[in-house]
Amino acid sequence: MKASSISPINIALIKYWGKRDQGLILPYNSSISMTVDGLYVHTTVDFDNKYTEDIFILNDKEIAQESEEYKKYIGRFLNIIREKYNIDSKIKIVSKGNFPASAGLASSASGFSALSTAINSALSLNLDKKELSILSRQGSGSSARSIYSGFVEWKKGEKADGSDSYAEQIINDWPDFRMVICVTAEEEKKVKSRAGMAQSVSTSPMYSEWLLSIEDDLKKTKKGIKEKNFSIVGKTAEENCLKMHAIMMTTKPSIIYWNNITVKIIQSIIDWRENGLESYFTIDAGPQVKILCTENSVKEIVKNCKKIEGIKNIIVAKPGEGSKIVSKHLF
Ligand code: PMV
Repeated sequence: MKASSISPINIALIKYWGKRDQGLILPYNSSISMTVDGLYVHTTVDFDNKYTEDIFILNDKEIAQESEEYKKYIGRFLNIIREKYNIDSKIKIVSKGNFPASAGLASSASGFSALSTAINSALSLNLDKKELSILSRQGSGSSARSIYSGFVEWKKGEKADGSDSYAEQIINDWPDFRMVICVTAEEEKKVKSRAGMAQSVSTSPMYSEWLLSIEDDLKKTKKGIKEKNFSIVGKTAEENCLKMHAIMMTTKPSIIYWNNITVKIIQSIIDWRENGLESYFTIDAGPQVKILCTENSVKEIVKNCKKIEGIKNIIVAKPGEGSKIVSKHLF
């Protein structure tokens, strides 16, 4: 009953921010992402009667079952699995990410997709990718997209039971698309996306405007991805990211994920663009900036980034593979 998986982070080009159903994790809008190569979570799960209670070890640290972090995320998800598949035995989960957790690098997306993929194998559930995406979505919404490689759309669905809210691949590869990830802070963010988005839906005066323009952003981005039109995809992603941050900032109380380095990078990207170096930015629920560009401008962008004081780490990423089963166990 032991199985291991590796699952990548994904970065949204068209963002998900707001749930129409908190329990099933159903979004108000569809979203589009790129699965990222090289940044992942490795998870091993073991269902066995020898365990007297569930054990969850994340990045070498045991997370106490009484903690809010455990109850709201892992505990909640395990309850869903146990109820749905009639499982009594306890589980040991060991997860390790190769990037800072909770800093706006989609750790919950890779964490829950890795967990769902490993559980699917350990319990021989035989879920296909669509079913796995639906299951993983109930752990963390954005994790529904990490099941797939390349460029992915999570369809919001219409049904109340969530059976039509899952991800699908748009295209598998776009060889010269790159994402230069600038890490500007490594500490955990203060407002988790789950709490932040609920607050935004109920208090931001801009939330309804967001929903009005999202279909157009999705359509343009999907077409741009299929045609590999970098300018359209980059420009639409940047505009969409700014709209999401406008919602965050107009939430009461205001949620501002940016720091001064985040702003410095944004301004630099706009300057570079005015001088002919085409790149765009996207930012999630954290201060890290993901620069979208093509392979031929990576060198210059990295060189420019190195001159910006305060950037802690620069990671160049390509579109990558979705979650998969691996034979290497962590315990
Ligand atoms: O799935 P969550 O709860 O980690 O929320 C993800 C929210 C954003 O990263 C800001 C946007 C997105 O679509 O990934």
